[in-house]
Amino acid sequence: MSAQPESRKATDGYHRLTTHEVSGVLERIVQLDIPLRRKRPDGSYGYIPPKDFDYYLKNKEMTFYIDEDSYEKLMRNDPELSTSPVPHGEPQAETKPSFETDRIFQQELDRAEEMDITERIQSIMNHSFRINGMIEEGRRFDPGTIGTVSDIFTSTLCINKSTMMENLTQPIPQENMSRIITGSNALIDSLLKLMAKGRASFADLARLEHVQTGSITLNHMNRLLIRFIAFLFFYNSYFQRFSNDVKRFRAHFRDLFYQYYDRILKGSQQVNLEIVFKGGIAPVQERWRFIEYVMGGFMHDIGKLPDISYHDGTEGFDMKKARRHVFDSYNMLLETRELSLGVVSTGLLHHDYYGAPYGYRQLETFRKKFIDRREKSRDTSPLLHMISYNINDVGYGNTVAYFPNKIMEILDIYDALTDPDKKYRTRTYTPEEALMLMRKEYLDVPYPGIDPIIFYIFVDFLRASGVIADPAVAEELKTFGGAAPL
Ligand SMILES: [Fe+2]
Ligand SMILES: [Fe+2]
Repeated sequence: MSAQPESRKATDGYHRLTTHEVSGVLERIVQLDIPLRRKRPDGSYGYIPPKDFDYYLKNKEMTFYIDEDSYEKLMRNDPELSTSPVPHGEPQAETKPSFETDRIFQQELDRAEEMDITERIQSIMNHSFRINGMIEEGRRFDPGTIGTVSDIFTSTLCINKSTMMENLTQPIPQENMSRIITGSNALIDSLLKLMAKGRASFADLARLEHVQTGSITLNHMNRLLIRFIAFLFFYNSYFQRFSNDVKRFRAHFRDLFYQYYDRILKGSQQVNLEIVFKGGIAPVQERWRFIEYVMGGFMHDIGKLPDISYHDGTEGFDMKKARRHVFDSYNMLLETRELSLGVVSTGLLHHDYYGAPYGYRQLETFRKKFIDRREKSRDTSPLLHMISYNINDVGYGNTVAYFPNKIMEILDIYDALTDPDKKYRTRTYTPEEALMLMRKEYLDVPYPGIDPIIFYIFVDFLRASGVIADPAVAEELKTFGGAAPL
């Protein structure tokens, strides 16, 4: 590595490296987890996932791009690569910090912050234009499409986040805020069309390893968005294809599910399927409602910051800081004054776990929003339901949880357990192991946190997607309290 290019850093802030140079330091790039980028034909920079390094290095003579921070880090490890002196005064840390700033997330946010509000609105409109173009082309929801979709939603999320953060200190004119939110809603509407039209099977929708943003948090948010939609499609289809099962939910409620709800309600009332689902278990038919649920799913973690480690474990992270993200999400969403309380609630309540002691216990914070209205339209029904499709029931206090939030909890835990990029864990769980663990820790405990019926449907969803290949395992997962599955 003695050849030194004349200029490494250009006006865009990226350092350029040739294929030969990258090959020379590849081992350290992998070791230090340095994000490597390439320039796309449209001039934007695309992240190259490590699994694709081989492909790019073997087949092409090209220019790679490395951001400033990563470049400095690489330099510290290989001064020879540098055209400028190694920075001094920087501690040459021997021990790796337990968590480093999520650089890609930070960069995406910086990029959004640099735009003025008109550019942001325009950018979201361009994204819509692109997705609508894909729909017209009749694009399949294949790995390439998933990649493009996650680029688009990464940008949209960061635009929303930076706008909402600014709005907290200096209010954004309402019409602009409205355009950002309306644009984001339209984008989700388009995504639903793209996924409904371009999907061959649930198996296609499950191929989420193709979400590769280079950021743990952004990968999580993109995967949850796609999985949430796929699950809702499945949930709706469940009422046709599995209609017998839905009927049997009622018939076998006592053997299978009763024990969990009885434990949650501490035996305070008789429970049946109609008590669990206020108004009865039903598909989500209205399109506006579907979009609203998905919007909440998309925005649920918008309060997360790039420099904090988040996970559901216990060791080596600041629980208090990590828990803050639900307040931050809630505040940011609420202060837009453009989002429904349902969407706002997802930010605050997606770690509620039916009020379990290990939950974040934010239900009262949310209900305070309803105190005035509760006087007027109080539901005098003495029954407490578990789940409602309508957020007002949760606000008024006659239902414990909001339907999409109970889905979110399950998707969230499952994603955390199966995410191969989470570095705090020594290994990643297989889908089967993750589900077993979820049952053990969130259902078969004195205070069940996730919903057993939605969990049951989720197992069927992963089975239908081919994520769980062995039908016997799926059956075992659905065997509750010794009762055979339906
Ligand atoms: Fe969260
Ligand atoms: Fe999350």
